[in-house]
Amino acid sequence: MFDTIEKFNTNTLNIECNQRDGHLDYLVIDTPLAHAEVHLQGAHLTSYIPKAASEVLWLSPLAKFEKQIAIRGGIPICWPWFGKHPEYPQLAQHGFARNSRFKLSNLEQADDLSVTVTMTLSSSDITFEGFPYSFLLTVIFVIGESLSVELLTENCSNSPMPISQAIHSYFSVDDIVKTKLLGLSNHSYWDQLALKEGKQIDSELKFDQETDRIYQTSNAHLDVICDRHRIHIEQENENASVVWNPWENKSKLMSDFPDSGYKHMLCVEAAHAGERIFVAPGEQLSLKQCITVR
Ligand code: BG6
Repeated sequence: MFDTIEKFNTNTLNIECNQRDGHLDYLVIDTPLAHAEVHLQGAHLTSYIPKAASEVLWLSPLAKFEKQIAIRGGIPICWPWFGKHPEYPQLAQHGFARNSRFKLSNLEQADDLSVTVTMTLSSSDITFEGFPYSFLLTVIFVIGESLSVELLTENCSNSPMPISQAIHSYFSVDDIVKTKLLGLSNHSYWDQLALKEGKQIDSELKFDQETDRIYQTSNAHLDVICDRHRIHIEQENENASVVWNPWENKSKLMSDFPDSGYKHMLCVEAAHAGERIFVAPGEQLSLKQCITVR
């Protein structure tokens, strides 16, 4: 489908297909409600600007747009495992979906002018090497006054399929030290740096050092607040919310991340993390994050 679109214009929808740095195909979507950019590699959204607001997502100015390399920033899809593979740590961190080319399987505009973009990834000889299951992963973006991102995992094989996953959103903030994250008080977390459990007491989570925590949440409502905007996040069906900022030292270790990039981003991720969950044969598992700027 992507190959046949190239350009599509109506009064309420403008779509262009471009190539980033001559390598990666991406769609540029403009409607009266929002501007968005989404790449076929990784079903990776790199821009979302609702009308009368500024960019919601942080995209690294040093991000690489090359085949089989994950794009730094925007909304990477971590699937079918989150973090290191539990049995084979030599496999790619956060799974292969973010480095794989998806198919554009549907694109439609609703009466309320929101646009739904559906992308799919199916099992292949390549995915069987590290993940011996037949699957269909569907990523559904609804781009309108809000942005919703849904991952639908279907197990097409005959045995239970173990997965963990994340919608790894990088939010753009003015200044991380003045940024607050609300909605996690009284939630327990696993601190990936100290390797111990903790409990969030304060209603506001503030940032003054490297942070890498997996909070236990369920249908969380969270708010990222900085001078420029308040980003309201509603999640569905997750069992974890991951909060990550690499701070200064780790930023310097990443070649696709500016040394001072950590000042302007905060990752808040809807996830199934920790113990993998099993999707029964023929069943579907949904994970969803919906983002609204207030
Ligand atoms: C977060 C993890 O989700 O992603 C961190 O909690 C990790 O531990 C971060 O460092 C970035 O991962 P990557 O593979 O994109 O560099």
